[in-house]
Amino acid sequence: MEKILNHPLIKHKISILRDEKTTTKEFRELISEIAMFLCYEALSDAKTYDKKIKTPIMETTGQIINEDNYAFVPILRAGMGMVDGVLKVMPNAKIGHIGLYRNEETLEPVKYYYKLPKNIESKEVFLLDPMLATGGSAVNAITMLKNDGVKKIKFLCIIAAQEGINKIKEIHPDVDIYIANLDEGLNNIGYIYPGLGDAGDRIYGTK
Ligand code: PRP
Ligand code: URA
Repeated sequence: MEKILNHPLIKHKISILRDEKTTTKEFRELISEIAMFLCYEALSDAKTYDKKIKTPIMETTGQIINEDNYAFVPILRAGMGMVDGVLKVMPNAKIGHIGLYRNEETLEPVKYYYKLPKNIESKEVFLLDPMLATGGSAVNAITMLKNDGVKKIKFLCIIAAQEGINKIKEIHPDVDIYIANLDEGLNNIGYIYPGLGDAGDRIYGTK
């Protein structure tokens, strides 16, 4: 399943994000804010348990999410930009890291770091990366998580190309994809258009 956020506020924020004149500070803030909305949407089927609470008026039953059941896993570098935002929504979730970069000629992902929270196999993982282009990085990261026993994975991205969505759906059809905006396509060097350029470079001010 893929869910594309279709909301004027998201469109507004993405338009500012795309603008090449947007500063590094503002770019980071927007990535984090949009990630927060993606996380909100991805939690819409979260299980809750009942808890008795007392308001200043009376006793009632509240619904609580067990935050310990969740882990956020950003794909480095650019995925790190989404961590602040998702932690605002779920501050007690655990964090793992998968380091991947795309070889600029082959566009194949290259792994350089991998560290996950303990008991990851019993948690639902929200895998974070702002850009889903060819889908190579996301598919590789999902395979690594599954090899470590993770059974429930959601992929959260800000901008996606249809090629990347198709690749995840073909290889990992059980993974739900949450997308802030579906763009027009991929250019001949594997960049999303109209896109926003290189997300990692814009978050960190490199290049
Ligand atoms: C970018 C992006 C994704 C990947 C998407 O990372 O953050 O991880 O490319 O492309 P794909 O769908 O074709 O695999 P990049 O390789 O630029 O590394 P960085 O985050 O370190 O800048
Ligand atoms: N990675 C990026 O950062 N941007 C793209 O457009 C494609 C992959």
